[in-house]
Amino acid sequence: MGVFNDTYTRSIDDPTGFWGDAATAIHWEKAPSQVLDDTSPPFYRWFPDGRLNTCFNALDRWVDGGDGADETRGEQLALVYDSPVTDTVCRYTYRELRDEVAVFAGALVRLGVAKGDRVVAYMPMVPEAVITMLACARIGAVHSVVFGGFAPAELALRIDDATPKVIVSASCGIEGTRVLEYKPLLDEALQIATHKPDACVILQRPMVAATLHAERDLDWATAIKDAHPAPCVEVGSSDPLYILYTSGTTGKPKGVVRDNGGHAVALRWSMENVYGVSPGDVYWAASDVGWVVGHSYIVYGPLLAGCTSILYEGKPVGTPDAGAFWRVIADHAVEVLFTAPTALRAVKKEDAAGVLCQQYDLSSLRALFLAGERTDPDTYHWACELLAVPVIDHWWQTETGWAIAGNCLGIEKLPIKPGSSAHAVPGYQLGILDEAGQEVPGGEDGAVVVRLPLPPGAFLTIWQDDERFVQSYFSRYPGWYLTGDGGRVDEDNYLSVMGRIDDVINVAGHRLSTGAMEEVLAAHPGVAECAVIGIADALRGQVPLGLVVLKMGVVESPASIEAELIQLMRDKIGPVASFKRAIVVQRLPKTRSGKILRATMRAIADGHAYQPPSTIDDPAILDEISAALQT
Ligand code: COA
Ligand code: AMP
Repeated sequence: MGVFNDTYTRSIDDPTGFWGDAATAIHWEKAPSQVLDDTSPPFYRWFPDGRLNTCFNALDRWVDGGDGADETRGEQLALVYDSPVTDTVCRYTYRELRDEVAVFAGALVRLGVAKGDRVVAYMPMVPEAVITMLACARIGAVHSVVFGGFAPAELALRIDDATPKVIVSASCGIEGTRVLEYKPLLDEALQIATHKPDACVILQRPMVAATLHAERDLDWATAIKDAHPAPCVEVGSSDPLYILYTSGTTGKPKGVVRDNGGHAVALRWSMENVYGVSPGDVYWAASDVGWVVGHSYIVYGPLLAGCTSILYEGKPVGTPDAGAFWRVIADHAVEVLFTAPTALRAVKKEDAAGVLCQQYDLSSLRALFLAGERTDPDTYHWACELLAVPVIDHWWQTETGWAIAGNCLGIEKLPIKPGSSAHAVPGYQLGILDEAGQEVPGGEDGAVVVRLPLPPGAFLTIWQDDERFVQSYFSRYPGWYLTGDGGRVDEDNYLSVMGRIDDVINVAGHRLSTGAMEEVLAAHPGVAECAVIGIADALRGQVPLGLVVLKMGVVESPASIEAELIQLMRDKIGPVASFKRAIVVQRLPKTRSGKILRATMRAIADGHAYQPPSTIDDPAILDEISAALQT
């Protein structure tokens, strides 16, 4: 662990020297004279007086050169769009992608978008989604991508919070074999939202022609017609690059704000040091641009590092089969794959013996990285045997934007311990704290926290809500960042993250709020009270389960209420919630002070041993819950 130890120790002992060095890999219009402004914690600012453009660093510098980019990569592939659902493969060199981005940036400028303005993108996995993000970065506008699986009400919440000048969307997304119209969802969201954008740009895909409202909507082709390519606009290091909404403990999502400078430095560094890739390598994050993994490792990271990034519009299974991932690796000579354990479990379920895998030449693959949820040892061993490459579990969050803990292949491959995401990554100093804020002895469970300051790339704040930023993350344990995860660190400083300790659940690698779901259930006229818990699921890791108590006098049958609640969740949160089970119960177990015992119910549902708290009001209710869950 020599090289890694030295690197890690330097990052902790001399963070400004460490990150100051890393910053030289980025092209600055004005190089920062200061590495870290730590004058108003927890509002740390990295490279505070540096000026740059993220799109320039991701595209133009590889075409035109720039300091640090001593070779030009204009004709190298920047993006490969592979879409089994439309039977399309489309390749963009760095020059082509830069030119298309510049034109769309010009179209946005023509629509009145200027530096600091927000642009919401509600897009499927098409190149235009990537182009939209980079075009915003080019002109200093702030993008906010909303995952396509969210329902209109959720999109409306984000529109009202981000108040975009323009919204970019598409006529449809394709989920497996189903064509899902997006435009009616956008129209409905705009009916609900108070804020109205000046314009909506709609990509008309061949499968569906969206109806456009002449006074507000224009299609993508019209938007870019005769648009002048826009140059890169210089921004401050701490100016926002994007807002990405993520689930918190309440119904209102948190708008995580990312900066330009720290983000570019951290992602560039992570590509080489965490993932072990170099300019020219082919890197594939099989995620969605609507999630942080997509932002960091489909779009920005690979392009900032001069790699070829794969944009995959498909599923691990069903498009057309469980060999889809292996086909993509072979077709594009992918060197590093990043996906979620749930995707591998989906493949394993259909092809446990890996028969389809044997049909492809996977000799290009050097490593498989997994995140989104803990890699369970079964999935780890299966993937290792199948692929015979290092399988690396690494842990991170929307808030940090890149890995907090993981095995840094680019520095030194450490021994792998299944079930653990290895050591803290350089820049992050971890603690495991008990309720009282004391560090627990090695090996014991507690709240996983990170000592301040967080390294470059971590979020600046919550959009327009500094107070929530401080309250949610920094008030519980002063001097530490509260990750919301629970876990333990062993004698080798290896971390195992065991799950959330708040009201957030991870469903198929998607982060969702049980609090938001409870708000939906509670809004049903027949529901008196409710609880939503995340229960174990063999494929998705966790799925939500709703338990509801009906109001007196409700005449509808429990079965029909349950069906209504499932539909309501789909309508209000979206299909991504995978909310398939609601159960009517007579009472919910509570403490004497009225706190619902969610953890106890979760243990019952998962078949774990449990010890109800001594403050439980009526232990007999637990038997009722247990019986209800058997049905
Ligand atoms: N637009 C619209 N709907 C979407 C969507 C999108 N972008 N993404 C998902 N949905 C819908 C799905 O169609 C499905 O709808 P249904 O209930 O009508 O069938 C629902 O949301 C749930 O989606 P999902 O959980 O993805 O289920 P699935 O059965 O389609 O696929 C997996 C299961 C495991 C294959 C898939 O979830 C997966 O690949 N997960 C990996 C997630 C990931 O990469 N996370 C990022 C962290 S690395
Ligand atoms: P998101 O912000 O959507 O990326 O979700 C972040 C959350 O996913 C974390 O707080 C964890 O709960 C979970 N998570 C992500 N990666 C891992 C991992 N490698 N091990 C355990 N949990 C993970």
